[in-house]
Amino acid sequence: MPLLIKNGEIITADRRYQADIYIEDETITEIGENLSVPEGTEVIDASGKYIFPGFIDPHVHIYLPFMGTFAKDTHETGSQAALVGGTTTFIEMCCPAGSEDALEGYKLWKSKAEGNAACDYAFHMGVTRFDETTEAQLREIVADGTASFKVFLAYKGAFGIDDEALFKTLTLARELGVIVTAHTENAELVAQMQAKLLSEGKTGPEWHEPSRPESVEADGVHHFATFLEATGAKGYIVHLSCEPALQAALTAKARGVDITIESVIPHLTLDKTYAERPDFEGARYVMSPPLRDKRNQGALWAALARGDISTVGTDHAPFDTAQKEMGKGNFTRIPNGIPAIEDRVNLLYTYGVSRGNLDIHRFVDAASTQAAKVFGLYPRKGTAQVGSDADLVVYDPAYRGTLSTKAQRMNLDYNGFEGVEIDGKPEIVTVRGRVQVRDGAFVGDKARGRLLRRGTGR
Ligand code: URP
Ligand code: ZN
Ligand code: ZN
Repeated sequence: MPLLIKNGEIITADRRYQADIYIEDETITEIGENLSVPEGTEVIDASGKYIFPGFIDPHVHIYLPFMGTFAKDTHETGSQAALVGGTTTFIEMCCPAGSEDALEGYKLWKSKAEGNAACDYAFHMGVTRFDETTEAQLREIVADGTASFKVFLAYKGAFGIDDEALFKTLTLARELGVIVTAHTENAELVAQMQAKLLSEGKTGPEWHEPSRPESVEADGVHHFATFLEATGAKGYIVHLSCEPALQAALTAKARGVDITIESVIPHLTLDKTYAERPDFEGARYVMSPPLRDKRNQGALWAALARGDISTVGTDHAPFDTAQKEMGKGNFTRIPNGIPAIEDRVNLLYTYGVSRGNLDIHRFVDAASTQAAKVFGLYPRKGTAQVGSDADLVVYDPAYRGTLSTKAQRMNLDYNGFEGVEIDGKPEIVTVRGRVQVRDGAFVGDKARGRLLRRGTGR
């Protein structure tokens, strides 16, 4: 059924104006004032509401075997949580173990998502080893429309790759015109510092941050940038958490290295004192890179406002309390992750726009448009214009509420943002023209989501 969203204020990365939006099939076909209503059209009155382009989370983990267990969300729970929070597309990290084939892993991840996602999705292909079979497999994966890679410079002995594999991956990426996303921490330093702290009896979650301090991340950024420079590849730093790492990235950018920077909502809003909470509650706040000293947040918000940090994702990686307890007595065994797929947009709006840290256009840009541009989805996604997919968020800026485990759709027994007050919330969310969220609740088609195939920069 065609859909007309009337009387709302459309806000994109560069414009705000009052207009109606008409949607036929999956696409925005008309935007204008006082559009007429053809028979059989569903009309949504958006008076007093903002209409944003569907938000894009460029960094999530849904199916994730990690640290001896599996992340809790399925594509069904994760995509529905994304949608009630206004995210209409996510890009999932496909992370086969270093012992597994890239292509087998890719097929497995695709099979997990297919028919189970309520929102659209794409993948970053994790390169966790590079042997004689990898290159041909990666070419096949890119030809299938998964046009970005992911490498881990952290997690020695698990997802982490060595410099030879990094060089080969970047060289191939350069040839194919594929961007390489990277987790940038020095894996060896982390491993050595973890061992030292444990040998000193420092075993609780509060020691996670000291085991991978800011300098270790800055070193990882510098290392990655040097390899990008040598190969001419395009890079994207995921979940950048602190000022020294930011400086390392900006220094590389200033000398012409092609780097885009992402931060994630936990680093912008939480700090390392959360991981120091007593009675092992701190384990809920263990992620990598770790939550940092609060003084970093001013630099992150300022860089985000300037556009030096381009995107804000979540790094959604949900592990419940029982899973976190696998690390009691040894913080290196606490599964890493602070889930936020449901809350990213509301938190960014509240801490950013409401509190005067972020212009509303930059908010849309950072939470949607830039991800679409960087990862080859624009203008199909990331904006609200004629011809774009009709992924829209009717947002109520007057809503006031509190985040809570009880109310969430994420499949988890806690919420790292429990009790946080938010200003604003999605009321209606559409995915390619279909209403998936109404009055803030998921009401849609559980299998609406499609794999988004992307071209390369060539
Ligand atoms: O703590 C995190 N970040 N967990 C997920 C894996 C990763 O490094 O992205
Ligand atoms: Zn990571
Ligand atoms: Zn991640």
